Order: sequence, then C-alpha cells, then structure tokens
Amino acid sequence: MTGRYLVTGGAGFVGSHIVAALLDRGDDVVVFDHLSTGHREAVLQGARLIIGDLDDERLVDYVVADGPWDGVFHFAALSIVGDSMRDPFRYIAENVGTGVRLIAACVRHKVPKFVLSSTAALFGSSRSTPIDETANYDPDSPYGESKAMLERALHWADRVHGLRSASLRYFNAAGADPAGRLGEDHAPESHLMPLVIDAALGRRAEIAVFGDDYPTPDGTCVRDYVHVADLADAHLRVLAPLATNSVRYNLGTGRGHSVLEVIQAVERVSGRRVPMRRAPRRAGDPAVLIAGADRIRRDLGWQPRYADLDAIAATALQWRQAHPDGYRTGHRRLHQGTIAELFHAVTD
Ligand SMILES: NC(=O)c1ccc[n+]([C@@H]2O[C@H](COP(=O)([O-])OP(=O)(O)OC[C@H]3O[C@@H](n4cnc5c(N)ncnc54)[C@H](O)[C@@H]3O)[C@@H](O)[C@H]2O)c1
Repeated sequence: MTGRYLVTGGAGFVGSHIVAALLDRGDDVVVFDHLSTGHREAVLQGARLIIGDLDDERLVDYVVADGPWDGVFHFAALSIVGDSMRDPFRYIAENVGTGVRLIAACVRHKVPKFVLSSTAALFGSSRSTPIDETANYDPDSPYGESKAMLERALHWADRVHGLRSASLRYFNAAGADPAGRLGEDHAPESHLMPLVIDAALGRRAEIAVFGDDYPTPDGTCVRDYVHVADLADAHLRVLAPLATNSVRYNLGTGRGHSVLEVIQAVERVSGRRVPMRRAPRRAGDPAVLIAGADRIRRDLGWQPRYADLDAIAATALQWRQAHPDGYRTGHRRLHQGTIAELFHAVTD
C-alpha cells in the first residue's frame, strides 16, 4: 500500500536514498531541505522539493498542516561530532529546537508516524561492543546528546499524544545507490569511505590514518559500516510496527572493520593503491564501535544485503567514478514543487 511522506533532509546523503526507496515503491514524497549540506540533484524526479529551513516555525507548521501524511522521516540535522565539541550549544539548540518543533507540528496536525535518524553516538566510548538496544544513553558529544534528547522527546510525544515513532540508530552509513542514481557528497567530507575513494582516484594526496596503537587487531579504529540501501530498507520496514507501537533499533551489520581494512577494500575494488599517512589519534575516537542489531532482524526480518565491505566500497566507488565532482557533475533530476506559492502563503 502506498502512502504520502514528508522527508526532512531528503536532499542529503542518507535521506536521498530513503526518498528513492519510497519513490521506487510508488509513494508520494515531499522533501523539506535548505540544501546546506544536501543537493537539489539528489532529490530524484517524482519527489517535490520544498527549500526551507526547519528553524522557520511558521513554514514548518504550514507544510505539516498540508496533510494528510502517512508519516514524517526526520533526517535534517547538524551531524559532525567534532564541530559539536567546538560549538556544543549550537548543536543542542539547533538539532533539539528544530526537532522538537517538528515533532510538535506532527502532534498538532495528527501525523501518525515519525521516523528519527538517530545515531550510535548516543552510546559512550566506554561501552563494550557490540552495543544493543538495552545500552543506556551515554553520549560522548553534544551531537550524540542532541539525538538522545530527541529520542526522549519522542518518548513523551507517544506517551502524552500517541505519536508513534521509530528511533533508528545508524552506525557508519556508507555505500551508494546500487542503481547508480545517488551517492555521498559532503563538502568538506568527513566520512572515511569517500575520503579513501578520493585518495584512490588521485583526488586527494593521501588519507590520514588517525592512530595505529588502539587495542584492535591492526591497531586502527574499528567501525560497523552499514550500506545506505540497507538503511533505506530498514526505514520502510519500521513503518509496519508503528501502526501499534513505538520502536528503537540499532542499525549495523554486527561486523567491525578497521580503517586499514577499509583502505584495503577500496584498493581491491578500484585496483589502485591508496596513499596513506599515519597520524596521531584524534580526541574522542573510540577504539571499536559495533552494532548489536539482532533486534530488528528478529522483529522485522531485516537483513543487510550489502554486509560485505567490498560490496559497500564498490557501490560508493561506482558513483564517485561517474561523479568525480559529486552532484556538480550529475544530471539535474530535480522536480521543484510549489516553493514560491508556499513562501508567499507563509509570508503574506
Ligand atoms: N551518515 C552517517 O553515517 C550517519 C550516522 C548516524 C546518524 N546519521 C544521521 O542521519 C541523518 C542524515 O545524515 P547524512 O549523513 O545524510 O547528512 P547530510 O548532511 O548529508 O544530510 C542532512 C540534510 O539535512 C539538511 N538540513 C540540515 N539542517 C536543516 C535545517 N535546519 N532545515 C532544513 N534542512 C536541513 C541538509 O541540507 C542535508 O540535505 C542526520 O540526522 C545524521 O545525524 C548519519
């Protein structure tokens, strides 16, 4: 059964892949994004794009009131851990402020389902891994704290107002649309896989490996890389249980890969050597973060199709080779909706 969904941050990396998955199954999709880190070209034909800031409370209320919606997916956020350590109040104010106002608008306008992009950064580095859903909140950064606060706000939105929600804690999102339509394009890029790919393609001089003396098999940090298409699949699956109750799931493959293993995977799939430099540890990087993601497998039958690191790297490489300058070299796929009408309706 198809539906109508509002997707904040749907022009960004993860959000654009969920928009594609919704469009692929015939849903009606409206993206709300101010394009600070997202791209018009990442909004595939068939979705409507409203360019707006979630900070604009009147506009958000106007858009959410334009229902009925079957659900709201909330991806839009500031999401760089290091930045949040430098500017904690901006992260708390913006992520929590915009998120809570969006949740309140959903309650006001009787949106039945809400899906939050949450994060493994909810859990402190002192946790032993794998980390499952029984772990307590213990964020190491204001970014993680802001997501923990939104999860709590959603708890109360359900308890007081009956808004059903899913909090999906992604570990390291990576890869690209296997059909080649979408990929990862942040400026500056902070994620390992696209940085390593750029080094392999000669678009960066080298990749810095921060720390090689961690208590891991090869001394470099270990993370759980989950393919963005598998994340999209999980987002579609959680809509069913939201008919009756709220849920929280950790999303990862349950397998960890070190920084050196990511480099080797990119070397294998690209057939090129990745120039690298060893650098000191970065503050706040935990040695190992692996998801205990059995709960969503058990409850919803979710099974990552791209659990193999080479398969994840291959899709990311395919997109980057076709788009060496990111979306700037992509085709314009935007279908822009009635932004002008909306803007006037709100500001008149
Ligand atoms: N990428 C990961 O590995 C990862 C891991 C865990 C959690 N997450 C979460 O997933 C979500 C998406 O991450 P991403 O990597 O796709 O990030 P992204 O930066 O690519 O996408 C975020 C999108 O939200 C938009 N946006 C941000 N603030 C906005 C605002 N105030 N109003 C309107 N639009 C706004 C941006 O323009 C962008 O298109 C974030 O909430 C992030 O915290 C991502």
